[in-house]
Amino acid sequence: MNLIVRKMTLDDLEQVVAIDQASFSLPWPPRSFRFEVTENPASRNWVAEANSQIVGLLVGWLIVDELHIATLAVHPNFRRQGVGEKLLVQALQSAGVEGAVKSFLEVRASNQPARALYQKFGYVEDGVRKGYYKDNQEDAILMTLERINV
Ligand SMILES: CC(C)(COP(=O)(O)OP(=O)(O)OC[C@H]1O[C@@H](n2cnc3c(N)ncnc32)[C@H](O)[C@@H]1OP(=O)(O)O)[C@@H](O)C(=O)NCCC(=O)NCCS
Repeated sequence: MNLIVRKMTLDDLEQVVAIDQASFSLPWPPRSFRFEVTENPASRNWVAEANSQIVGLLVGWLIVDELHIATLAVHPNFRRQGVGEKLLVQALQSAGVEGAVKSFLEVRASNQPARALYQKFGYVEDGVRKGYYKDNQEDAILMTLERINV
């Protein structure tokens, strides 16, 4: 796969929204992605592209010295091929250049693939928000990467 990771643009949003909807039981409204790309100064948005097709996305929020991973998704047909890892490397490296030292996120307790991905990067599970997800009252696991080093 000829994979590149680059900044998300407005032209990507249709494919980004489709991947998000295929990936989550509570997808973001399309206007949220538009807001991230056009208005949110904290937003650091990336897409993975293979042969002109968007195959993954990551939205991060850079707040002082912390990168919050707001969402990350890979097209179902392109999973387990290193796309998620490549997006995370890009987001963390780039935030590190901008001064981020820590990263954190929330993940559904049942989401073993994502928990494994984040653990591989050194994120540690350090908290729980009980019943955080409104569709099934599932807990959110809080994960922190204390020192960005990718
Ligand atoms: C989680 C997700 C982004 C991973 O993307 P991906 O491109 O498939 O992941 P990669 O191929 O880069 O895998 C990197 C590592 O993640 C872990 N991983 C990914 N998928 C996994 C799975 N199905 N089972 C167990 N571990 C998995 C592994 O540690 C893997 O490393 P390895 O291949 O050396 O074992 C993808 O499964 C996805 O989009 N899921 C739906 C949306 C979602 O849950 N997003 C995260 C919200 S917090």
